[in-house]
Amino acid sequence: MADGREHWDRVYSTRAPDAVSWYQPFPERSLRLIRSAAPDLASPIIDIGGGMSVLAGELLQAGYSDITVLDISNEALDRARRNLGDGAPRVTWLAADITQWRPSRRWAVWHDRAVFHFLTDPARQDAYVGALLAATATGATIIVATFAPDGPDRCSGLPVRRYGPEALAERLGPSFVLVDQEAEFHLTPAGATQHFSYTILRRR
Ligand SMILES: C[S@@+](CC[C@H](N)C(=O)[O-])C[C@H]1O[C@@H](n2cnc3c(N)ncnc32)[C@H](O)[C@@H]1O
Repeated sequence: MADGREHWDRVYSTRAPDAVSWYQPFPERSLRLIRSAAPDLASPIIDIGGGMSVLAGELLQAGYSDITVLDISNEALDRARRNLGDGAPRVTWLAADITQWRPSRRWAVWHDRAVFHFLTDPARQDAYVGALLAATATGATIIVATFAPDGPDRCSGLPVRRYGPEALAERLGPSFVLVDQEAEFHLTPAGATQHFSYTILRRR
């Protein structure tokens, strides 16, 4: 599969962490949204397709104790683990394709920045929703950031599907209620601006 593990391992083994278009030195919005959804620092939080994001480290710094990062790329997870140093053993690292993953537990907060939008095939989108349903319970918060309808139509050389909050909520299905939305104009390391849509939903 062109957008599978090999693609992402190649990206992470050939590009500097701060050279990829999605690089954020500090994930301010994600942190704020997670803190607001989960004031209890024991809340289990999972970052889907966390890549080399510093989000897990920032969550540790904020005092969260139950953090999981899942990514299809072992290369990304190895590098993220190394970057976190002493903090790495306090995070659970899962190497898995979200469309094939069978979760063994549940999380209070599901965070995904720029992963779901790569799933252009409805069957793989359905598989993602299946994993999301299995990994969350009533009351869970789901934060999904995708490119907005007027955002780029490709990322990392791959086509993406763009969503506004309502379209994303409809695609995720009736088990999720749209509770909030935020727009972000992300400045890439190359100086381009990308319009992201952050959709916040609650599991019914
Ligand atoms: C654009 S990057 C975003 C990384 C991170 N969320 C961030 O904001 O810095 C997309 C990430 O999703 C991961 N990914 C892509 N397809 C995936 C899949 N099917 N299952 C799990 N992870 C996937 C990639 O390895 C990559 O780390």
